[in-house]
Amino acid sequence: MVKLRKMKLFLNHFFEEFAMSILYTPTTLGPMVLQNRLVMAPMTRSRAPGNIPNALMAEYYAQRGTAGLIITEGTSSSPNGLGYPRIPGIFSAAQIEGWRAISDAVHGKGAKIFMQLMHCGRISHSLNMSVGSRVIAPSAVAAAGEMYTDAYGLKPFPVPDAMNGDDIRVAIIEYANAARNAVAAGFDGVELHAANGYLLEQFIRPNSNLRTDSYGGSLENRARFVLEVVDAVTGAIGRDRVGIRLSPFGVFNDMPLYDQIEEEYAWLAKQLNDAAPVYLHLVDHSSMGAPVVPESMKATFRHTFKGALILSGGYDAQRAESDLASGKCDLVAFGRSFIANPDLVKRWKSGAPLNAPDMGTFYSPGPKGYIDYPVLL
Ligand SMILES: Cc1cc2nc3c(=O)[nH]c(=O)nc-3n(C[C@H](O)[C@H](O)[C@H](O)COP(=O)(O)O)c2cc1C
Repeated sequence: MVKLRKMKLFLNHFFEEFAMSILYTPTTLGPMVLQNRLVMAPMTRSRAPGNIPNALMAEYYAQRGTAGLIITEGTSSSPNGLGYPRIPGIFSAAQIEGWRAISDAVHGKGAKIFMQLMHCGRISHSLNMSVGSRVIAPSAVAAAGEMYTDAYGLKPFPVPDAMNGDDIRVAIIEYANAARNAVAAGFDGVELHAANGYLLEQFIRPNSNLRTDSYGGSLENRARFVLEVVDAVTGAIGRDRVGIRLSPFGVFNDMPLYDQIEEEYAWLAKQLNDAAPVYLHLVDHSSMGAPVVPESMKATFRHTFKGALILSGGYDAQRAESDLASGKCDLVAFGRSFIANPDLVKRWKSGAPLNAPDMGTFYSPGPKGYIDYPVLL
């Protein structure tokens, strides 16, 4: 009897362990093997003076190299795409060299690494750009709000130049070149940032795209730019190396909701399934006060898009386990918890408490609040 009870306890424990282990078990992403299903979400940290990645950044990313996949901070594909102070680029030889040290350091810890390609479009300011660069967007409509500049603090968002046909062609070529540069720098792939109010989303959304040519008006036209970028980038480096991030129901950076938003993003999901990047990454910033992304929207993406689905926003380990177990997604991305806990995987596995993130150092220059969060011994 006692033996039977002991056996039962052992089996319960075994199955509990097994049920809790999805997050930490290795998996695949296209042809790649990931050491677990934890993704470090892309996060701008503004630690790249001169827009060139450096040794401090290599240390930061390597510290977090026990993730399955790291997606870097938004990285500009073009001098015109720089928006915030001290964000890195991937359009010069020095930047490729700087990023190579980072991909090497991360691979040394076992994680794969994708570079997030972020063209800021109108979410920018000339004070944060090099001489000769231009703030460009689908239409000459300034975003409501202000941009931080190192030189003069907060400044209203400028009215961008509406992109002409050549600007559009050049921007697409720049995305493809940036993707090639990322691969040359040793990256496993790139994530196209089509979320959170930056250039690609500025084309998709009707408030920031007032064009009357083939890139504006109907949804098919508004989505043309992003789909052409996806084609150019997958053509340049291969589908297995390209992911895309979207924020249906996102309102960040002056992107108001509108009536047809759910059906428009459902249509986009179909187009992206045809374009077949290796993953689609959905943002839900409701834990940060943004509107909730309805479950129906997430389910539509899950059913329509046959590649890997990453969900993100306000996750802890338990909710991640549950969404993975119920098949809602293949991978889960964690943002702020990875900022504050370089050893997040170890902490969650061992049940240790987490460090709290310090918002005051999210974007400040230097090592404080960047590489000095305590780790378990
Ligand atoms: C400091 C900071 C910087 C961020 N920068 C980016 C970025 O460059 N690109 C992006 O797609 N999302 C960015 N995000 C959003 C995160 O990727 C993530 O979606 C968000 O933090 C919600 O996830 P969490 O609740 O796990 O933190 C940023 C978030 C934070 C806190």
